[in-house]
Amino acid sequence: MHVQNTDEIPQLPCVTRREFMIRGSLTGIAILLAGCSSGNGPTAPASVNLTLNISDYPALANAGGVAYVDASGNPLAVVRVDANTFDALSRVCPHQGGTVSSNGNGFTCPVHGARFSETGTWVGGQSTSNLTSYQTQFNSSTGVLTIG
Ligand code: FES
Repeated sequence: MHVQNTDEIPQLPCVTRREFMIRGSLTGIAILLAGCSSGNGPTAPASVNLTLNISDYPALANAGGVAYVDASGNPLAVVRVDANTFDALSRVCPHQGGTVSSNGNGFTCPVHGARFSETGTWVGGQSTSNLTSYQTQFNSSTGVLTIG
């Protein structure tokens, strides 16, 4: 039987039980924070370059109406503010990419409960930023809405 000389055993860095617990806790906290951060899902594009014929969307016939529109795979909500004004918002939640839906007077994300106003401003629930909004231009003569 070979007995190894203790002088030959490589020395490992010593970590006390207390240091081990602190390091483990910090690692756990870092993992939890990473899980709660933004950017874990789809994100809203900076622009969508879309044109819509408003008469194709009966939900937009009256002020306050909301229509869901697909812009090349990007879910949008178009809100009719008044006769000639429309808002266009990404339905991608800025928290972690859930798809928000209209709740009658704004939008709610089903994933963690963030809530947004009709104009996309975060108003409660899971803390996050506002929905991405896009410029709109409505031609009342043609009924065409251009979304930037
Ligand atoms: S994805 Fe978390 S609140 Fe929307």
